[in-house]
Amino acid sequence: MYILFILCLYVFNHTFGIQILKNCTPSDRQIAQDKCGAIEELLDSYFEKYDGQIPPEDVKENMTDLYKNIMECYEMIGCQEALESKMNFEVEFENWSIFNTGIKDCMAEFYGAIYEERYNCTNEFEWFSTDPSTKRDAYLNGKSCFFEVTSIECSNSSQNYLTTNYNKFVDLLTQKPDGPACEGLHYELNDLKCNQPISTLFTQTFSFFGKVMPMGEDKKSEYKEVYDFFEQDKTNKTITCMVLNDCFKTSCTFPKGMEQMIGTVCKELKKMDNVNEHFFECMKSILSQKLNGTVYSCIQKESGLDFFKDKDCAKEVMTGECPEEALVDFDNQWKWTSEIVNKKENKN
Ligand SMILES: *[C@@H]1O[C@H](CO)[C@@H](O)[C@H](O)[C@H]1NC(C)=O
Ligand SMILES: *[C@@H]1O[C@H](CO)[C@@H](O)[C@H](O)[C@H]1NC(C)=O
Ligand SMILES: *[C@@H]1O[C@H](CO)[C@@H](O)[C@H](O)[C@H]1NC(C)=O
Ligand SMILES: *[C@@H]1O[C@H](CO)[C@@H](O)[C@H](O)[C@H]1NC(C)=O
Ligand SMILES: *[C@@H]1O[C@H](CO)[C@@H](O)[C@H](O)[C@H]1NC(C)=O
Ligand SMILES: *[C@@H]1O[C@H](CO)[C@@H](O)[C@H](O)[C@H]1NC(C)=O
Repeated sequence: MYILFILCLYVFNHTFGIQILKNCTPSDRQIAQDKCGAIEELLDSYFEKYDGQIPPEDVKENMTDLYKNIMECYEMIGCQEALESKMNFEVEFENWSIFNTGIKDCMAEFYGAIYEERYNCTNEFEWFSTDPSTKRDAYLNGKSCFFEVTSIECSNSSQNYLTTNYNKFVDLLTQKPDGPACEGLHYELNDLKCNQPISTLFTQTFSFFGKVMPMGEDKKSEYKEVYDFFEQDKTNKTITCMVLNDCFKTSCTFPKGMEQMIGTVCKELKKMDNVNEHFFECMKSILSQKLNGTVYSCIQKESGLDFFKDKDCAKEVMTGECPEEALVDFDNQWKWTSEIVNKKENKN
């Protein structure tokens, strides 16, 4: 009877791959700590040295060897906890290998291309959907679009990884892994979508606000910045603001408690979508000229035209000096610009 049981167990084990694990003894634990732990320390010292960076090729080889040695070490010990450790190292090793392909830079570029609409195809898919299965569909249905972008924006090693592991990559990106939240490549890759909106939106907005406002001597160069801002900012604010809102709710690295600020910023940026560039172009040219007070009686002799305070005069001058299209939506354009400028002046 006993023999039969053992036999059954044996067959079962081999047929279904179910492991009958023995618990670790104190001496197993000691060996794990002494032998495997020592190799782990070596690996850790490399990680300290190349903190968050992709190590050079020769170091990568050494680290790969260390990973393999650690996994072998735990496997040799063979008891339950040791095998669990081995499995954790397998996951970590895979994560590290993917990281080493430069996948983070690659995804940052991919997200950037979406925000800036540098490729025509990206608007067709919901890459940023908060629903995991919709997002998964975007990456599966949008595969050729994804590669249209990444084949140009990403390094060879990222591309090699992506082309040979695309489905696994989509899983990585769209499935929350087991284990503690906010740990691992899944979260790191998803959080990258928040970086670009932060850096472009915030720095551009702040540099914009900073630059419009000073009313110094050299108005011409100051207003050039305003104009350049509109020229250079090619990001789609609808997408950026949508993603940012999501970042506040779900991101692991995004600073919390800034919802109100982002709300304000996005509201301002929404207005920018309605900006009449001709208005700004002509405003820029007016502010850089010495206007003739004889022609425009509203212009004060001493102080000149106070464009942002005297709306009627601003309109009179623009009507005389600007092409017709510059006056389209004049009220809103003037109001918005003046609000920014006056806000800043009050602060000074
Ligand atoms: C790689 O490991 C070998 C053997 O331990 C060592 O001699 C060599 O200096 C290591 N290389 C690097 C770049 O750390
Ligand atoms: C995107 O589409 C526009 C208009 O259809 C076309 O002129 C442009 O060349 C396309 N851009 C790319 C990068 O394919
Ligand atoms: C990437 O691959 C292409 C084609 O396989 C090759 O021509 C190019 O030199 C590679 N670039 C780098 C940086 O290895
Ligand atoms: C994955 O690897 C990267 C780079 O080595 C590291 O920053 C990250 O913490 C790792 N995540 C996990 C869960 O091991
Ligand atoms: C910005 O993206 C949204 C959503 O994809 C799209 O509907 C809209 O047309 C885009 N705006 C511009 C100016 O391209
Ligand atoms: C201002 O305009 C008047 C009337 O057109 C003209 O006589 C005068 O020369 C102009 N002054 C300047 C400085 O351009």
